[in-house]
Order: sequence, then C-alpha cells, then structure tokens
Amino acid sequence: MSPSDVDVDRPSAARVYDYVLGGKDNHAVDRRAAEMLLEIAPEIRDTARQNRAFLRRVVRHLAGLGVRQFLDLGAGLPTVENTHEVAQAAAADSKTVYVDNDPIVLTHGRAFLDPDSGSTFLSADIRDTTAVLKGAGEHLDLSEPVGLLFVNVLHLIGDGDDPAGLVAAYAHALAPGSHVVITHVSGDGAGSELRERIGKVFTGSSADARLRTRGEIGRMFGGLPLLEPGLVDVAAWRPENGAPVGELRVFAGVAQVP
Ligand SMILES: C[S@@+](CC[C@H](N)C(=O)[O-])C[C@H]1O[C@@H](n2cnc3c(N)ncnc32)[C@H](O)[C@@H]1O
Repeated sequence: MSPSDVDVDRPSAARVYDYVLGGKDNHAVDRRAAEMLLEIAPEIRDTARQNRAFLRRVVRHLAGLGVRQFLDLGAGLPTVENTHEVAQAAAADSKTVYVDNDPIVLTHGRAFLDPDSGSTFLSADIRDTTAVLKGAGEHLDLSEPVGLLFVNVLHLIGDGDDPAGLVAAYAHALAPGSHVVITHVSGDGAGSELRERIGKVFTGSSADARLRTRGEIGRMFGGLPLLEPGLVDVAAWRPENGAPVGELRVFAGVAQVP
C-alpha cells in the first residue's frame, strides 16, 4: 500500500526498523538504508529482536498482574506478536492504544487492526502529553491501571524535551496499579569504536537521538519502585531462554505506579 501521503522515495525510520526485524512493510529505499545501517552496526539486528521479545514478555507479565489496557508510545509498524495480540491472547477484553507520529505507521496500523479489536492507532507526538492522554482517554478508562510502554523510543527524544519529565507527566496521569515500561539503548560498556558507529546511525535518524547511561535511564522512572529484576539488559529481564548480552546494550525496566 502506498497512499499519497506516504513518501516512498525517502527511507522511513519505522519501515527501516521493520526491515531490520525481518518484516515486509518496507520499500527498496528503506531496505537500502537498512542495509547501510546494518553494515555500520550489525549489532542492531540482535538488539532489535531482543527488544521485541522483551515486549512480548512484558505484556504477558503485566496481563498476568491484571493489567487490561496498554498505551504503546512510539509503537512502530505492526509486526508479529504486537502488543494488542499478546494482551488479548492473555485476556480477550484487553485494549491497546498505539501512538506514533510517523504517518506510515498510522496508515499501516489502521489497515492492520481489526476495527472490532478494541484497539486503535493514534497519530500524535508523544511529547504532547495532553493530546496523547486526551486521545487515549477516548479508548481507555484512565481510572483503571494501564501498561505504559516506552519501548525503544526515548533514545529518540533529546534532553531538550526532558524525557524524564515526559515519563513523569504520563505516570502522574495514570491510576494506581499502572506500570511504566522503558527500554532504552545505552552506550555503557561499548567501546569507542561501537559508540562512534551507533552515533552515526542515530544522527541519521534524528539529530536529537542519544545513547544514555544506565544511571540516566534509571532516573527516567522518577523514583517509582521497579519490579524485579530491576533495570537490566533487555534480554535478561525475566528471560524465557538464555540471556545473551551483546556489546550494544539496551536496558529494560518496569516500575509500578503506587
Ligand atoms: C525504534 S522504533 C520502536 C518501535 C517499537 N516500540 C519497538 O520497540 O519495536 C521508534 C518508533 O517511535 C516513533 N517515534 C519517534 N519519535 C516519536 C515521537 N516524538 N512521537 C511519537 N512517535 C515517535 C517512530 O516513528 C518509530 O516508529
């Protein structure tokens, strides 16, 4: 599908990410850009897959704790085992609101979602907390717990936009029993050569994009209590199999809103 508002002549971050994950919603221009990225930093493929596997595990875990509503911020293109599918497999009445500011994600997302699924895509910038919460509130009951997902998106929000303040604004608006989930790419432990390569990849996707340290990522939870095992490598958060940790770290943590 190539609707007129979707530019197929320039790579889209969402479609490039889809290609890296082995998806089919991408064009030649995205595949070329993705291959260039993977040539610069082949580690990205493994960390992207580990990140999606974490998303499945965390949605299942929160569903097990009784969470029936999910707000997936910076959702990306639908791929396999998306948030609403994992949530509904655990509890059929679960609802998900996906938010992304890429028009391609909205077009594909709306085409992909069954209108009767109880889930929806919102086109919004997650930095506009008022608009996102208003839109989400039309589909979710914000007086009940929500699983708030910032999965591999906050590294695209620059310090000038105060990502920790954003997380706090959302967490503050949510009911007790809600959970804040963050995964974030980090430069910790990476050699200077890898940091330089990843820096190049990031600058290509957003001038504001930034690797952060584990300490900086931890502070984004604003002091909310973290579920076990705390803030750990994404593959090591309640792993179902082994937990291989590469040189390119992605940290993951889940906090509960008291
Ligand atoms: C790396 S992808 C992650 C997708 C998905 N969460 C995952 O982890 O598989 C980041 C997504 O965040 C979206 N995004 C980046 N900045 C955003 C913003 N300010 N508001 C809404 N979406 C944003 C991009 O369009 C992209 O689809």
